[in-house]
Amino acid sequence: MRKKLVIGNWKMNGDREQNSRLLHQIQTQYAPVDNGVSVVVCPSSVFLNDVQKLLQACGSSIKVGAQNVSEHASGAYTGEISLSMLQSLGCDYVLLGHSERRVLFAEDNVVIARKVASALKADITPVLCIGETIDEYNAGITEEIVRKQVMDVVAIVGVDNFDKVIIAYEPVWAIGTGEVATPDYAQSVHKVIRDLLRQHNSAVADKVSILYGGSVNADNAQSLFSKPDIDGALVGGASLSADQFSRICAMLNRQSIKLAS
Ligand code: PGA
Repeated sequence: MRKKLVIGNWKMNGDREQNSRLLHQIQTQYAPVDNGVSVVVCPSSVFLNDVQKLLQACGSSIKVGAQNVSEHASGAYTGEISLSMLQSLGCDYVLLGHSERRVLFAEDNVVIARKVASALKADITPVLCIGETIDEYNAGITEEIVRKQVMDVVAIVGVDNFDKVIIAYEPVWAIGTGEVATPDYAQSVHKVIRDLLRQHNSAVADKVSILYGGSVNADNAQSLFSKPDIDGALVGGASLSADQFSRICAMLNRQSIKLAS
């Protein structure tokens, strides 16, 4: 069975006190079941260490991820964070190519591909975010866009390594807008992505986890998780609410138990 995940992207939110409160509440409300569902939170990098320690202290199974990393190993890159720094903090995941990085910080497919390759080498699981803008959606070129976003990374990383990559399909028009993609639409794009990988390596296509992201909340997660090619969610706004996030995690747990039985 493919790995199922819920990843909370806290973006540039939180402080020490808020993070601690949020984690404590999630820990109380969410009862993890040992059924292959992983839960990850991605705080701001300045709090990675804090969050990691808080989770360890309460024996939590929740993992920590970074929201970005430099493509460079070390050196004169003021303000950047390297993979070895993330490794030394015990960080397991890193979000790469989030649309906010692509749009606001001009990251292109090639830079993102290099970051994915470096993360794989460092044994930190890259979460490759892809998705079309509203203009691309309206122009009916979603498939073309996501194919290119995936294949530009495949060209540098190699398809055989893609079973170690997590893909997050996040239509840009759905991020932070409250306008979630319909489960059928999301499923159709997830299938395009899986079929594309299948053309190059069917074992990898069967294994790769593809998450949906964009206005996921506790009211819409269940119907998204019921789709065969949706392996979990990348959650932004709703991950800042312990109640919402815990309910989303519980829904994926239930779905996973259903699939296993
Ligand atoms: P959202 O953000 O859930 O607030 O739409 C998702 C994301 O940016 O990853």
